[in-house]
Amino acid sequence: MKDLITLAQAQPERTFSVPPAIGFVPAPTTPEEYDKILRDQIETLSKVAKDAGLRAQWPLSLAHHSCTMRPLRYKLCTHHCVCAMSFTTIDQATPRLQRSELAVPASTTALFEKAARSAADVIFLDLEDAVAPDDKEQARRNAIAALNEVNWGDKSLSVRINGLDTHYMYRDVIEIVENCPRLDLLLIPKVGVAADVYALDMLVTQIEHAKRRDKRIGLEVLIETALGLSNVEAIAQSSRRLEAMSFGAGDFAASTRMRTTVIGGLDPHFGVLADRNAAGERPFYQGDPWHAAQGRIVAACRAHGLRPIDGPYGDFRDSDGFRAAARRAAGLGFEGKWAIHPSQIDLANQVFSPGPEEVERARRIVAAMAQAAREGLGAVQLDGRLVDIASIRMARNVLAKAEAIAGRTLHAPS
Ligand code: GLV
Ligand code: MG
Repeated sequence: MKDLITLAQAQPERTFSVPPAIGFVPAPTTPEEYDKILRDQIETLSKVAKDAGLRAQWPLSLAHHSCTMRPLRYKLCTHHCVCAMSFTTIDQATPRLQRSELAVPASTTALFEKAARSAADVIFLDLEDAVAPDDKEQARRNAIAALNEVNWGDKSLSVRINGLDTHYMYRDVIEIVENCPRLDLLLIPKVGVAADVYALDMLVTQIEHAKRRDKRIGLEVLIETALGLSNVEAIAQSSRRLEAMSFGAGDFAASTRMRTTVIGGLDPHFGVLADRNAAGERPFYQGDPWHAAQGRIVAACRAHGLRPIDGPYGDFRDSDGFRAAARRAAGLGFEGKWAIHPSQIDLANQVFSPGPEEVERARRIVAAMAQAAREGLGAVQLDGRLVDIASIRMARNVLAKAEAIAGRTLHAPS
């Protein structure tokens, strides 16, 4: 067992297959015996792995293993994992609160201190579209200085590098990753194919090894072109560094030639003209032109353990419009939204945090289901509505988010 843990610590991504009977207990002869051995083994190994700072990930269906008496495949890793509902398990990216992601042009140094004191969960210093070509080199120098000198508190820090189609990109990556130990993430714009991320991973990996960097850089990508959206599933599986995908409505509209004028806003003509009602009228219902693209991004992210993040809402004076866009995104499963102006940070944090009533209800669902399990029931009634095992999963999502928010005590650096 000790050897196994040492091996797992050295190779955190590896899956181990162990016939449970071998080396631990006498060989089972029936599926029932096998099942008991699996359960005992899971319990012991989970405890040992936890003590060693590892997480053990098990396939959900023990029944499958014990019926076929197949070796139990499990994964021990240093990052967070969950079991998927199929036999395929989903590794979760490094957990990180990302309700609000503040965009700060790296060319405007006057904004840095204010951004550092804001309540944003993530800040990205922008070297890409908010910076004019003549300012690119200075912006990069500013970003390096800011990453090293400003007190960012417990925020996650990201830099949006220039696109892979520009000659700025390689220097952005090399200089930023070599010189900024505080950096958490790189945001890659206009990702079109999985190989874009693969190339970045290769470069970052080399720099990390050469410079013996302690903190491993995570990657976030922007899906904001027709090409990127068409390849979104492949991109979602392109690198183990990948943590999140943002939807960039501005460039997406440009790439697909959608008819919208405000970034992330609506098109007054996009909607349906309903059939005639009893009064003989035909009401027009405005639609959400982003829905289809956003839905694909959420599914690709959740299928591969990434966080889907909704991108910018350009009209920063329209807080109602921002809130409505954020609520639609949250309803679809997005985990946060960009803020292109400080006034959007609190709005995003509010929308993407579960409210006290939601948390309270989640706790009651978990308690009701624990009671149901003791009584051997799979589903029960709570407040006149059915709750079942799927409800526990939803409730646990809410509680995990509430716990992460409560754990983030420092908003402003002291
Ligand atoms: C973000 O980069 C966008 O294009 O909307
Ligand atoms: Mg863009």
